Amino acid sequence: MVDRIDLADLAAAAGACRACDLWERASQTVFGAGPATATVMLVGEQPGDVEDREGAPFVGPAGRLLDQALEAAGIARERTYVTNVVKHFKWTPRGKRRLHQSPNAAEQAACRPWLDAELAAVQPEVLVALGATAAKALLGRDFRVSRDRGRFVDSPLAPRVMATVHPSSILRTDDDRRTAALQGLVDDLAVVAAVVA
Ligand code: URA
Repeated sequence: MVDRIDLADLAAAAGACRACDLWERASQTVFGAGPATATVMLVGEQPGDVEDREGAPFVGPAGRLLDQALEAAGIARERTYVTNVVKHFKWTPRGKRRLHQSPNAAEQAACRPWLDAELAAVQPEVLVALGATAAKALLGRDFRVSRDRGRFVDSPLAPRVMATVHPSSILRTDDDRRTAALQGLVDDLAVVAAVVA
């Protein structure tokens, strides 16, 4: 049994992953980022357009919103480990744009060993699934973010596991409801902040 798997070694190995076809159209593997000592691990769906180009998770518009919510909740992003269920950007062309497509079950399953390895390496105190794809991947198909968000649920994956909304869903919310939606994410993350303080 390896004591603690080295995240840099994992990232390098994932860079050559061909376990599904998504690598063919993506610019690069976007592995998780953050210190191995992080107590909080955040898991999104897959890198977006900006993340695919830059090679880091949550650095585009959704990432900026996540940063804002983390700061408001009192969690320092640089002390979290941020990753995704799927490490390649899945997209379809729409004119000059690359439109996000959700990863299917086979693509998620192909990528799962990387997420499990990240969990084994970081061993976070709190694991947070961002949005339905991550929540279902981590907590089962029956999990409903709308029903079960914001509270810790039993899971063998970490001492405390919670799901909340994906920051992208807030970006898609109508202007008049966006502030409340963001506050909902902040409130859920504040529950996390309270247990890692
Ligand atoms: N959305 C995600 O789920 N992950 C990212 O890294 C960026 C956007």
